[in-house]
Amino acid sequence: MNSRRKFLKSALTGFAGATLLPQISQASTASNTLNEKLISDDNSEAYWNMVKNQFPFTDGLYYFNNGSLGPSPTMVRSATNDYRKILDEFPSKYMWGGWNDEKETVRKQVADLLKTSEEEIAIIHNTTEGMNLIARSFDLKAGDEIILADHEHTSGTIPWQVWQETKGIKIVKPILPIIPKSVDEIVEIYKKAITPKTKIISMCHIVNTNGMTLPVKEVSELAHSRGILVAVDGAQAAGMLDIDLHDMQCDFYTASSHKWLFSPKGVGIFYARKESQHHLKPLIVCNGHTDKTIRRLENYNTRNLPEVLGLGAALQFNQLIGSEKIEARTMELKNYFRAKFEGNQKYKLKTPASDQLSGAIQTLEVVGKDVKGVQDSLFEKYRIDTRPMSTFGLNGLRISLAIYNTKADVDYLANVIETIS
Ligand SMILES: Cc1ncc(COP(=O)(O)O)c(C=O)c1O
Repeated sequence: MNSRRKFLKSALTGFAGATLLPQISQASTASNTLNEKLISDDNSEAYWNMVKNQFPFTDGLYYFNNGSLGPSPTMVRSATNDYRKILDEFPSKYMWGGWNDEKETVRKQVADLLKTSEEEIAIIHNTTEGMNLIARSFDLKAGDEIILADHEHTSGTIPWQVWQETKGIKIVKPILPIIPKSVDEIVEIYKKAITPKTKIISMCHIVNTNGMTLPVKEVSELAHSRGILVAVDGAQAAGMLDIDLHDMQCDFYTASSHKWLFSPKGVGIFYARKESQHHLKPLIVCNGHTDKTIRRLENYNTRNLPEVLGLGAALQFNQLIGSEKIEARTMELKNYFRAKFEGNQKYKLKTPASDQLSGAIQTLEVVGKDVKGVQDSLFEKYRIDTRPMSTFGLNGLRISLAIYNTKADVDYLANVIETIS
């Protein structure tokens, strides 16, 4: 057993926010037993079935759509409900300052997950807020350039488009290949898009269209050598990959924890490296807006504290399994899924294969069939939820393979697709 697991076992004091609140620290024997089961070197399907059982879905649903929205495991649902109950039983006691220490604990948990410092983390609502926070902070002039590749999500493009329309900044839009051959090929595309007027490169860590992973570290090194800042939309990566933000070197990174971190909905995380924080201005100004720390970016008076503390429970869940193990399982499931379709002329995998270039999101075309019809049949006849992707000529099902999807689920999905095709 590695030292992380030994430490977690010895530190086990129960789940559901045990470290956060005395009221919910009365760990039941059942929850302690579950925690112990989650902290394990076991990588068998029995282990992952036990993980799957933490995510009850509506009857008969096969959920392959985590890229749209993640579910929360039972323990996170319970913790959030407990916080809501405590708050509702004495609202004024907790809302404004009553849960400061607990919130700081969550900040530290986010920092630990992303291997950074809590002084570089703000807790916001979602990626859209994070991307707005970045774009709205910069007072750019007409002619200044921002690089936004063609697969960026509207969360990251619209704030800059508004500056294009109102201030005359220029958006430079490099075209990414659907199946890049290497990291170098992508870095070269970004390199060619840089000019002396480039101020910021804003990029996804994983794009939402076909799930390709972009080389944030290499692009950050390139950008910094030219004095350019790098902002990253991590909505489809945080919680799926084992991330080290200091190693990645980007200036800003934001994500919605309600996707791959399985937190309550409407909570997001924001990172700004220490040296780049001076660029940022709060989106909303109220008490605390002059705070010298990163906390100034997350103040909006009365807020969704049960969900914020529920994020703490989601981070504990993540930590019990471990980010390394989650990333390894992601790649295992991906390769298991791809092996079912690779080499078969009836299908086209529209996501690059290598672990450097993709993770748990894979886009698959059933050749000769319109994706909308395929997606409808999967859902109506077989209760399989996926997301159809028509942009970029993908005509593909976007299939998300989260840790609650087992190999048996993938077998079912592949058999049904074969039947339909
Ligand atoms: C890459 C990417 N960025 C941003 C978002 C927006 O997330 P939210 O609505 O949580 O802000 C999504 C949502 O699917 C996404 O896939």
